[in-house]
Formats: sequence, structure tokens, C-alpha cells
Amino acid sequence: MSAAQDKKFFDTFLLVLGVLIAIAIGLLALARMIGANTQERHVLEDPAYSATVSERIAPMAKVAVAGQDNSALAPSQPEPAVAESKDLPGEQVYNMACVACHGAGVAGAPKFGDAAAWAPRIAKGMDVLRKHSIEGFQGDAGFMPAKGGRVDLSDQSVLNALDYMVEAAK
Ligand code: HEC
Repeated sequence: MSAAQDKKFFDTFLLVLGVLIAIAIGLLALARMIGANTQERHVLEDPAYSATVSERIAPMAKVAVAGQDNSALAPSQPEPAVAESKDLPGEQVYNMACVACHGAGVAGAPKFGDAAAWAPRIAKGMDVLRKHSIEGFQGDAGFMPAKGGRVDLSDQSVLNALDYMVEAAK
């Protein structure tokens, strides 16, 4: 390797490096030019975008001042669940709300269609079972949540599911 060859290599190397840096800077400038005219301005001026920003940076809490109109601070009422007002057929409710535990007899729940498991419960009388279905029940075997945890269901829907289960266990 002669010194002349070294120098040639070094020059070429620097040239290539320089060209690459120039390309990178050029691309950066181009990207900023394009971005300035498209994204930023459009995004920043978009009312939907500004609304979400205002929402995100809004103070966590609002203060109600006595003697002023504080109605805007009232917590918004959650929309009632669709199923609430409707009375659904027992089989459907069972599959929605009861099968998780009663289908396989999970955690002490009397199993669907298991006459032996249901007989002592049916013997308590339907009034008791209706009450326990709607209000929930802590028994020796386990915990039965009110309405099977689906408090959005109407009472009648839950009772339909109860009838469906009791009927299947007879
Ligand atoms: C999270 C599990 C779970 C779900 C979901 C569930 N149950 Fe139960 N259920 C139980 C358990 C556990 C028991 C047994 C409690 C005991 O006797 O100790 C039980 C018992 C019952 C009983 C007998 C109560 C008694 O007095 O002996 C009825 C009736 C009943 N469930 C109805 C329903 C209906 C109707 C649904 C659906 C709307 C439902 N359950 C959903 C866990 C569940």
C-alpha cells in the first residue's frame, strides 16, 4: 500500500460520506417543506383535533360555586343499557348471564339440568329462588351475584332465565 493509494482511498471515502450527508440533509429539508404545508397546519386547524386537545388538557376537576349556575357540572347520566327495559326470553338470558356459572356448575353453582342439585333448591319454593336470582345469594356452596352480575337485565328477564333453569332440572 503506497501513501498515494491511501490518500486516494481517503478522498473517495470522504466524498461518499459528504454526498450521503448532503442527501440526508436534502431529504430532511424536503420532508419539512412537505410537512409544513400538509400535516401541521391542517391538523392544528382541525376543529375535531382542537377539541380533543382541549379535552385532554382540561383541568381534572371543576369547582361548584355556591349561588351560581352549576348545572354544567352535573355528572352526565350514563345511557341506560339497551337490555334494561326489554324482557328477554329465559333461554337467551340464561345464555347471556347464567351459563358462565350454571352451565358447568362453576364455584358451587347448581348445574343446569342437574335435577339432584336443583331439587333441594326448588324445595325452598319459587319465591325464594326468585328473590335470590334478582338480589343475589350467599349460600354454603358459594356466592350467587345479583342477577348473575347482569344488573342491566330487567327483573322479568332474570325470572325467565330462572324458570328456564328450573324447568330443565325437573
Ligand atoms: C358468577 C357465577 C354465577 C352466575 C353468573 C349466576 N349464578 Fe346463580 N348461583 C351461583 C352460585 C355459586 C350458586 C350457589 C349458591 C349457594 O347455594 O351457595 C347459585 C345459585 C343460584 C340459585 C339457587 C339459589 C338458592 O336459593 O338456592 C338460583 C335460583 C340461581 N343461582 C339463579 C341464577 C340465574 C337466574 C342466573 C342468571 C341470570 C345466575 N344464577 C347466574 C353462581 C352464579
